[in-house]
Amino acid sequence: MTKRSGRYSEQSPAVAASGRAPLPLVTQPIIPIENPGETRVDGPIARMDPALTVPSIPAQRPEAVLFGKANVIATAVAPMPSHSPRPQPSGPPPEIGLTQHQLPPDEPPDSRLVLVREPDSERAAAFRVLRHHLLELGRPQVVVVSSPKAGVGKTTIALNLALARAECGRSKVLLAETHVRRPQLANVFRCVPPWCFAEQLAAHRHQPMLPWSLVDIPSAWLHVAPINPRIEKTQLLDAPAFSIAMERLRTAGYDHIVIDAPPVLGSADVNLMADAADAVLFAVRARQSTTRDLRKAIDQIGPNKVVGTVLVE
Ligand SMILES: Nc1ncnc2c1ncn2[C@@H]1O[C@H](COP(=O)(O)OP(=O)(O)OP(=O)(O)O)[C@@H](O)[C@H]1O
Ligand SMILES: [Mg+2]
Repeated sequence: MTKRSGRYSEQSPAVAASGRAPLPLVTQPIIPIENPGETRVDGPIARMDPALTVPSIPAQRPEAVLFGKANVIATAVAPMPSHSPRPQPSGPPPEIGLTQHQLPPDEPPDSRLVLVREPDSERAAAFRVLRHHLLELGRPQVVVVSSPKAGVGKTTIALNLALARAECGRSKVLLAETHVRRPQLANVFRCVPPWCFAEQLAAHRHQPMLPWSLVDIPSAWLHVAPINPRIEKTQLLDAPAFSIAMERLRTAGYDHIVIDAPPVLGSADVNLMADAADAVLFAVRARQSTTRDLRKAIDQIGPNKVVGTVLVE
């Protein structure tokens, strides 16, 4: 058996060897782990994904692994855990002020906007499959997209998951970002947020009934809450403020709220967000993310909210 490093592998060798298009779906049962300290992957992800064997995920929960083509995605999703009923927020739905924005027609869209740049591609299809899997899990309204460490594809996944959910106006979708230190949405959509989302969170903490100010991108059927990239980067996310915001925005009529979050390790920010969300998805990057980090991240957030991993190649 050939030893591999503790990185996520490329597509299944079985797929590569066949020379055909990759299999769209492979179901894989959870495999108990013999050595919890093990971080090396001794085979293709198709046969064993140690990420799925973390002891914190109850073994009786069936898991599925989805294989897409290179550049796309392998996802492992677990059924939505049952939570105690969320307290009903009081008061009328919040007032939302929308500023319309069009993607500039004279420059190519950001490379991370897969569903805009190449809507008929296999990569785009993989995000629609991810959407489908999430809906199957019980239509989580607030989904946090995070990762163990930085720079692996959280923003890419959050963007395209939100676009896939909003596609053709099928759902009302809000894409918000909470990665205060490296905000990206204003750059991706090439807009200047009329009111920075981080500042709105702080303001609504003390005045929850204030109106919200969001960017409306009609061509993508999407509302966006970007952080102004020029704000003070040391400003920390305020957990109670995020929780209040989610309770209010849940009542605003959004079917889905996708949060482009910071990485998990090294801070408690995502723990605080997970408390106010229905589901947490982890991005992992082929040949970069390690199973050890993923394990640590799942342990840190706890198994109840983490519904799966998305492998970006
Ligand atoms: N499938 C892919 N293939 C190759 N490069 C990709 C892919 N997805 C994203 N990238 C690139 O990887 C970089 C990081 O992606 P992205 O911004 O989505 O990561 P992130 O996890 O949000 O980063 P950060 O932690 O800084 O917020 C970007 O330059 C992006 O263009
Ligand atoms: Mg990002």
